[in-house]
Amino acid sequence: MSELHTATPGRAWWRDAVVYQVYVRSFADANGDGRGDLQGIIDHMPYLQQLGVDAIWLCPCFPSPQMDHGYDVADYFDIEPTYGNLDTFDRMVAAASGHGIKVMLDVVPNHCSSQHAWFQAALAAPKGSPERDRFYFRDGKGEHGELPPNNWTAIFGGPAWTRVTEPDGTLGQWYLHVFTPWQPDFNWENEDVADHFDRMLAFWFDRGVEGFRVDAVGVVGKTEGLPDQVIDPNAGTATEQAGKNEHIQFKPRAHDYWRRWRRVIDAYQAEHPGRDLVTVSEAYTPGRPDLLLKFVEPDQFHQSFNFDLMLAPWIAGPIRHSVAEVYDVLTGAGASVTWTLNNHDTQRAVTRYGRANATEMVSWTKNNLVYVDAPVDEALGLRRAEAMVAFAAGLPGSLYLYQGEELGLPEVLDVPADRREDPLFARTGGKEIGRDGCRIPLPWTDDAATAFGFSPADHAEPWLPLPAEWGRYAASVQAGDDDSTLGLYRHLLEHRRALDVDAPLAWVLADSDELVAYRRGKVTVVLNVTDHAMTLPADLVGNGTVIVTSVRGHDDPTTVPSDSCIWLLDR
Ligand code: BGC
Repeated sequence: MSELHTATPGRAWWRDAVVYQVYVRSFADANGDGRGDLQGIIDHMPYLQQLGVDAIWLCPCFPSPQMDHGYDVADYFDIEPTYGNLDTFDRMVAAASGHGIKVMLDVVPNHCSSQHAWFQAALAAPKGSPERDRFYFRDGKGEHGELPPNNWTAIFGGPAWTRVTEPDGTLGQWYLHVFTPWQPDFNWENEDVADHFDRMLAFWFDRGVEGFRVDAVGVVGKTEGLPDQVIDPNAGTATEQAGKNEHIQFKPRAHDYWRRWRRVIDAYQAEHPGRDLVTVSEAYTPGRPDLLLKFVEPDQFHQSFNFDLMLAPWIAGPIRHSVAEVYDVLTGAGASVTWTLNNHDTQRAVTRYGRANATEMVSWTKNNLVYVDAPVDEALGLRRAEAMVAFAAGLPGSLYLYQGEELGLPEVLDVPADRREDPLFARTGGKEIGRDGCRIPLPWTDDAATAFGFSPADHAEPWLPLPAEWGRYAASVQAGDDDSTLGLYRHLLEHRRALDVDAPLAWVLADSDELVAYRRGKVTVVLNVTDHAMTLPADLVGNGTVIVTSVRGHDDPTTVPSDSCIWLLDR
C-alpha cells in the first residue's frame, strides 16, 4: 500500500487524523466503582493502538458533580477524583505517547458547574460585585423581582434562569444557564473569564495535551441587554425553541474570544517547537456551512465538527449533498474538514440507520433526537452503519470516531426510567429520553460477572446498566475475527492511512439516486443505499480491485451489494 502514500512533508497531523472519542465514565472501570477511569484508559492503550487511531479525545475529566457528566466543570485545573488524579493523568499521557497516540481534552467555555469556586463566591457576594460579573446575574421582573429577567428557555428544558437566595436569606437575583441550573453561563466580557481559559490551555499543554475539543461554542456570548426571544409558534418543543433563540446562538462577538485563544495557542506553539496543537469546535450548523466556516477562519479554531453527514437520512441525494456542500465551502477557504457519524449526544448510527424511517426525508435532522419511536431493524442498521463508516473513512479530512462504534454497538433504547442519568430526561419530564442510550459502558469481554469486562471481578453496579446480551459485542469476542465490525474498522483505518492525503474529492455518478461515489487518487469509493445489488458501469470499474468492502467476502469489482460500500483500487 505504501505506493499510494504521498503525504505532504510538514503537513499538520490533525488534518487527516483519526481521533477516537473516549467517554471516560463508560470506557473502562479499573477500580471497580462502576465508573470508567483513567487507569482503565491506560489498560486499553494497546487496543487503541491496534485499532489504528492517531489521537484520543477525552470527554471532560475534570472535577465535577457530574450533573451533566463532566460538562459541569468545578475545577479546570485538576482531575475528577473518581477518575484518578494528576499523576494518573500524566501516566496516561505517557502511555498514550508510548503507543503513538496523542491526547486531546474537552474544554467547556460556555459554563462551569454551580459548584465551581467562582460561582459559589458569586452567590456569597452582593449584587453588582465583581464576583457576580463573571456570570449573568440580573434582577427579576415583576414588583418583587419574582419573574425571570427574560423569556429564554434552557436547551435541556425548563427556564434558562434560576433565582438565588441571597446571603441574608431573602430571594434575590437570577442567574442565566442555557443548559441546566447546575451549569451557570460565563460572562465572556469579563476579563477574569478570558484570562482563566488562557491559563487553562497552557496548563494542559504543559502536561502534554496536544489539543482540545471545544464544547458548545455556538452559545458563547449573548445579545447585549439580554432581550426577550421572539417566540416562533412553530418552534416545536421547548428545547427546540431554545435552539432557535437568536440571542444565545452564534453571536458574532464570540469570534473575538476564539481569536484570543488562537493567539494564545500560536504563541505557545512558537515557544515549543515540535508541538502541533489543535482545537476542534463543536457547534451544530446543519445546512449552514457558512456558519461553520466562521469558526475555522485561520485565526480561530483549527477544525470544527461537521455534523451534516451524521444527520443525513439514508438517501443518496442528501448524503452526497451533505458531504459536497461542507467540503466545497471549507476546502474552498483552505480550511480543514472533519467527518463524524457518532458521538455521546447522538443516537448510535446502528439504531438510526436501522430505524424504519431512515430512508425518509423526515429523518433529515431529527435522527439524533431521541423521541422517535419508529421500529428498528438492528441487523440492517449495522450493515448500513458499516457501509457509512467505510464511505466516510475515504473522504479527505479527519475522522472522529466515538467509542463503541467499532464494536457495532446499537443505542440502548430501554434504559429503565429510574436508571436514566441524562439531565435532558429529567428536565423535560421524560418527554425526551436523553442520551444515556449511547453512553452505556463498553463490553470488553463476554464475562457477565465483570459487567462484560467493563469492571474488575469485585465491582459496584455500573453507572448505567449493560444489556444482558452485550457479551456478543465484546472487544475480546471480535478481536480475533477479521470479519467482525472491529475487524472491519481496523482494516478500514489501515487502508485509509494509505490514501493519498493530497488527493482531492472528485464525485462520480453524481446524478445517481442509488449510488454515492467519489474518487480520491487511485481509489474509487462507492456506497449503495438501495436494498438491491447494483452493477457498476464498466468505465468506472476499469481494472480496479476491491480493497475494502463492508459486506465481508465481496470481491467482485463490478457490483456493490445492497446497503454496502466498496473501495476499488486502480491497478
Ligand atoms: C456537549 C453535551 C453537553 C452540552 C453542555 C454539548 O455540546 O456535547 O454533552 O451536555 O454541550 O455542556
